[in-house]
Amino acid sequence: MGSEAIRAVTDADGMEAVAAVDPRAASTVVSLGEGRSLTCTGDLAEAIAQSAPDVMVDFTTADAAEENLRTALAAGVNCVVGTTGLAEDALAELAREAPEDTALFYAPNFAIGAVLMMQFAEKAARFMPHAEIIELHHDKKLDAPSGTAIRTARMIAAARDRVPTSPGSETELESMKGARGALVHEVSVHSVRLPGLVAHQEVLFGGQSQTLSIRHDSIDRASFMPGVVLAVREVCSRSGLVVGLENFLGE
Ligand SMILES: NC(=O)c1ccc[n+]([C@@H]2O[C@H](COP(=O)([O-])OP(=O)(O)OC[C@H]3O[C@@H](n4cnc5c(N)ncnc54)[C@H](O)[C@@H]3O)[C@@H](O)[C@H]2O)c1
Repeated sequence: MGSEAIRAVTDADGMEAVAAVDPRAASTVVSLGEGRSLTCTGDLAEAIAQSAPDVMVDFTTADAAEENLRTALAAGVNCVVGTTGLAEDALAELAREAPEDTALFYAPNFAIGAVLMMQFAEKAARFMPHAEIIELHHDKKLDAPSGTAIRTARMIAAARDRVPTSPGSETELESMKGARGALVHEVSVHSVRLPGLVAHQEVLFGGQSQTLSIRHDSIDRASFMPGVVLAVREVCSRSGLVVGLENFLGE
């Protein structure tokens, strides 16, 4: 995701990628196309001091991201973070500690279709409170459930006016633990990890003699890049913590 983001920023109007940081891949060369390249270094604080970026984009791991964000925000660098597995209160705390006029933007999913899926699910939950989520990702994904599933569950929970007693809240009745998924904000979430997948999610609603399925599929990491570029553009005019790409999409 980091290398893809660097190339997307390089191709975007009025933007330039000025540094690449990955301690585990230091000295790797990221190709920018047309014979241009950027050398990856291992020290974020040094990279910020040398290149004075307006924005840092973080796609790493939850532990690394927290440290990276602390370093960048303290230097007054706006942050766009796509790394999942970070608690939202940890992000809020980081944003609170940041200098005034510095923004921290987090999106659990930068794909426009995924944002629409979450919004459609939120709308459906008002009328069909019985909902379950199946999220499917590649087998290298470190966290489960996905950030998108957690956010979708939260949006469904906030939108529906009652919590159905069944199905979704009866996990104590399982004869095998995990059979009914994990309860996230009282919504059952099932996580699938398989090679061959990229990032997919289906939200299922059940009502009287009917079901509704809302599905989104990212079939390539390129699906996230227009959202990353939009966030890099928009974050500079914000401050504090902003969560979700929908904040930058207008009505
Ligand atoms: N929000 C979204 O739309 C979205 C989309 C895809 C992936 N993700 C998330 O982005 C994160 C990265 O995904 P990925 O598929 O690129 O993973 P990846 O494992 O391919 O890449 C992560 C990279 O981070 C590097 N890294 C580790 N510690 C670091 C540090 N301290 N500083 C800099 N780099 C460091 C690793 O060496 C590795 O190269 C995951 O949390 C994933 O869930 C989010």
